[in-house]
Amino acid sequence: MVNSRFDLHDRVVIITGAGAGIGKVYAAELARAGARVVVADIEQEAANAVAEVINGNGGKAVAARADVTSESHMAHMADVAMHAFGRIDALVNNAALMSTLARRPWHEIPVDEWDRVMQVNLRGMFLACRAVYPQMKKQQSGSIVNISSSRVFEGTPNRLHYTTSKAGVVGFTRALAREVGPDSIRVNCIAPGLTLSETQVKSSKPEYLAETAKGRAIARPQMPDDLIGTLMYLVSDASVYLTGQTINVDGGKAMH
Ligand SMILES: NC(=O)c1ccc[n+]([C@@H]2O[C@H](COP(=O)([O-])OP(=O)(O)OC[C@H]3O[C@@H](n4cnc5c(N)ncnc54)[C@H](O)[C@@H]3O)[C@@H](O)[C@H]2O)c1
Repeated sequence: MVNSRFDLHDRVVIITGAGAGIGKVYAAELARAGARVVVADIEQEAANAVAEVINGNGGKAVAARADVTSESHMAHMADVAMHAFGRIDALVNNAALMSTLARRPWHEIPVDEWDRVMQVNLRGMFLACRAVYPQMKKQQSGSIVNISSSRVFEGTPNRLHYTTSKAGVVGFTRALAREVGPDSIRVNCIAPGLTLSETQVKSSKPEYLAETAKGRAIARPQMPDDLIGTLMYLVSDASVYLTGQTINVDGGKAMH
């Protein structure tokens, strides 16, 4: 029998950027574990399609069109969760600008692209947290999981804006954990290594991806599935006394 601390049945989890890539896998796997999932994405059709597949497989999901940079969209996302499921147990801040960004030297990054990355990857997380906070505070419970990147610990070059934004996610996680701890809301962070999400594979040269396993203690490509156990742990009561922490899941490359 499964220890009930790990039980995710009926837990209401909002996942941003869940219409594609790793977020889509998070949504499917949490639903498979019994969670009720809000599939939020700026791409409405993609979000609808993911929710449809989950429901077709006997899970519970609802889609929300949600641009994380918009305060009103974030309010709508929280409303969708409340309307469909009546509570909000967890928020996974997964949406980001990543696979659509060119890899280039830092001085060639257009200034407006720098600003847009900060807007989506940092302001987006701030607005999403603000939108769910009143309900989590009311419940006096909640788990927020922010997604950073192991490149913060490696100092990976050629997407300087992206790496900088993901370092911000770590600081955001720590400071917010202290502010919402009194409401029994936990805030933690996962830092994935380079992961072969469908979008990453589409947007990267095969030679570049082939190199990524090098230097890892577990020297094989990282798949979205490799992140699921850590996410389930952070969403569940098994991690009830863990907050403000960043867990680096990269097969043991950067030993944070
Ligand atoms: N794939 C990797 O190698 C890797 C490594 C480390 C960290 N990460 C992080 O994991 C997360 C998911 O990665 P991925 O590979 O699936 O990324 P991705 O770029 O493929 O997907 C991001 C998702 O976010 C959505 N999105 C983009 N802008 C949005 C906005 N303004 N509002 C709402 N949704 C928006 C996209 O539509 C897409 O569905 C990201 O936070 C990424 O930074 C990925």
